[in-house]
Amino acid sequence: MGIIRELPPSLVNQIAAGEVVERPASVLKELVENSLDAGASRISVVVDTTEIGRIEVRDNGSGIHKDDVLLAFLRHATSKISSYGDLSSVLSMGFRGEALASISSVSKVTLETRHVSETVGTRLLLVPGESPEISDWHGPVGTSLVVRDLFFNVPVRKKYLKSQQTEQGHLVETLTRLAMGFPEIQFDLATPARKILSLESRESPYLRLLDLYPALSEEDLAVHELRGDDWRVQVYLLRPDRVRKDRQYQHLFINRRWIRHPGLFEAITQGAGGRLSRDVHVGTWVYLDLPPEKLDVNVHPTKREVRLLEGDRLFSLVRRAVDESFALFDERVPSPTSSPAVPPSPVPLSGSTEEGSLPAFRGDNPVTFAREAGIGQGHPSLREAPRPGRKLPGLPGWTPERPPSFDRLPEILKGLPLSGRMHPPGEIRAVGQLAGTYLLLTWGEDLAIVDWHTAHERINYERYRRQIDADGVTRIALLFPVVYRVPLTVADHLDTRLEELSRIGFDLDRTGPDSFRVRSIPFLLEGEDPVTALEGLRDSSSNFEVPVLRSDRIDELLMTVSCHRSVRKNDLLDLVDGERLVRELLETPHPYTCPHGRPTMLRLSREDLDQWFGR
Ligand SMILES: Nc1ncnc2c1ncn2[C@@H]1O[C@H](COP(=O)(O)OP(=O)(O)OP(=O)(O)O)[C@@H](O)[C@H]1O
Ligand SMILES: [Mg+2]
Repeated sequence: MGIIRELPPSLVNQIAAGEVVERPASVLKELVENSLDAGASRISVVVDTTEIGRIEVRDNGSGIHKDDVLLAFLRHATSKISSYGDLSSVLSMGFRGEALASISSVSKVTLETRHVSETVGTRLLLVPGESPEISDWHGPVGTSLVVRDLFFNVPVRKKYLKSQQTEQGHLVETLTRLAMGFPEIQFDLATPARKILSLESRESPYLRLLDLYPALSEEDLAVHELRGDDWRVQVYLLRPDRVRKDRQYQHLFINRRWIRHPGLFEAITQGAGGRLSRDVHVGTWVYLDLPPEKLDVNVHPTKREVRLLEGDRLFSLVRRAVDESFALFDERVPSPTSSPAVPPSPVPLSGSTEEGSLPAFRGDNPVTFAREAGIGQGHPSLREAPRPGRKLPGLPGWTPERPPSFDRLPEILKGLPLSGRMHPPGEIRAVGQLAGTYLLLTWGEDLAIVDWHTAHERINYERYRRQIDADGVTRIALLFPVVYRVPLTVADHLDTRLEELSRIGFDLDRTGPDSFRVRSIPFLLEGEDPVTALEGLRDSSSNFEVPVLRSDRIDELLMTVSCHRSVRKNDLLDLVDGERLVRELLETPHPYTCPHGRPTMLRLSREDLDQWFGR
């Protein structure tokens, strides 16, 4: 007797739900996408944080006609496409006709809706395994969907849910991504007890971003756009001194859909070029608008991934747009940030993933919710800091009886706007040094503070880069040649890279099946262990299979080298050398950050000081 049987639709839906409905945030995504597709201009979401399984999404969209109400919950039932060909022109968020079928197979759903053409709407109650209950509903045009008891009939699935905080974090994150893609839509997110996000309709993603991250100011984002006949790339780049170890603040939107795309992420990294190390990532929002036939969105059940028809061209466009956005920052002289959220101090080498976090979301009590939601943990002081105004005077707690002291300086600095000027005019004079780390300068009438280690890193990096480009890296011959042994499988690859290595200052001869003699190393590596440096290179170019001379590989080496060779804390630097260092720094193409993205200097202008002293 045969053993194969067709599965009942309820089971098929539950299985499909495994892909589409991973957690409460997936439900939120699907419901909000449906509201967007229904042409809503206002979408309100309420999530019950004490009982995470309840999610309510209400919209003022077209509503669902009484005749369609049951169909909407059938698998493969959709109003959005009717032929395979339609897939190539789809601009709606949904088209698979499976979201509601999946959700309603693993939860209890109440739908209240009224179609624009109706005077009386419909209410539908669906519980898996029970017959649907339909009744009239007297309410406004639009749709409200309440999902309760998520995964009540698939306990295994429930077990995979993370803590309430984590799930809340996903909910906020999901709505935020949707809100970033649709700035003109008004969004509210609340718990039964309080508002979390309340976003007005905005004309551009730029204004929406400023709403979502209240501690960001206009000076923190560079805005750039490239356009063609039927495409557009918009880039919003966060100040490059706010890098992170992960890509959490890199967002890609294609035709407003938030997606992950390794190729385009790489384009962002390459757009940063030598300005940042490859293992740190700058906050970037990239919005791509393309004709729908240039991409395939039907490659992933939740549509998080897409396939691009002209991937190479888009890669170059994104890379160029990011590069040009960086150039906007390259022209600015940093002065203390106006934002309380992120001091200009991310140290991207620490291995932590929290550096440079963006501030909490706007809301009645963003601090608490953000903490509950686990957003940006690890920067508590940042989230708790009140947002100071952009103006200096009137700092909280200041009274004439208690004159400000310099321990308040960080607060003052945070209140200052970032200057948009190019190198300000004025003579540069080193006047002192501080804590074995900082060089104090007067710059015309301004005061500047330079971190001489990072400044030196930038200088070394540019120097070495120039030498490589000019084909003449200064090298030193080793008095006692060193033997470099590698696994046999690696040796052959290395053999094909000897010429490239020589261009960057390493001269090696093969002396055996697995051994090489190192005759010289780059001058910048004097005193360093040649084998360690070569191992570093081998690591980053995967056993020398990848050309060492690829510009990103060289950048990595340069960054390590320039960091090693730079003056260290407490290396004494006299003021004359200090001045020379700053002049040389200002000659480099990107003087205000080191290659790892840390700032090299801070400037306090005469006007800022006058303002502070009430002159
Ligand atoms: N909020 C809403 N307002 C109006 N119509 C809706 C709403 N939500 C769902 N619908 C209707 O129900 C249908 C089914 O929704 P469902 O989300 O299951 O599928 P889809 O959006 O077509 O495709 P996908 O599975 O890719 O999301 C939609 O095609 C739409 O016609
Ligand atoms: Mg849908």
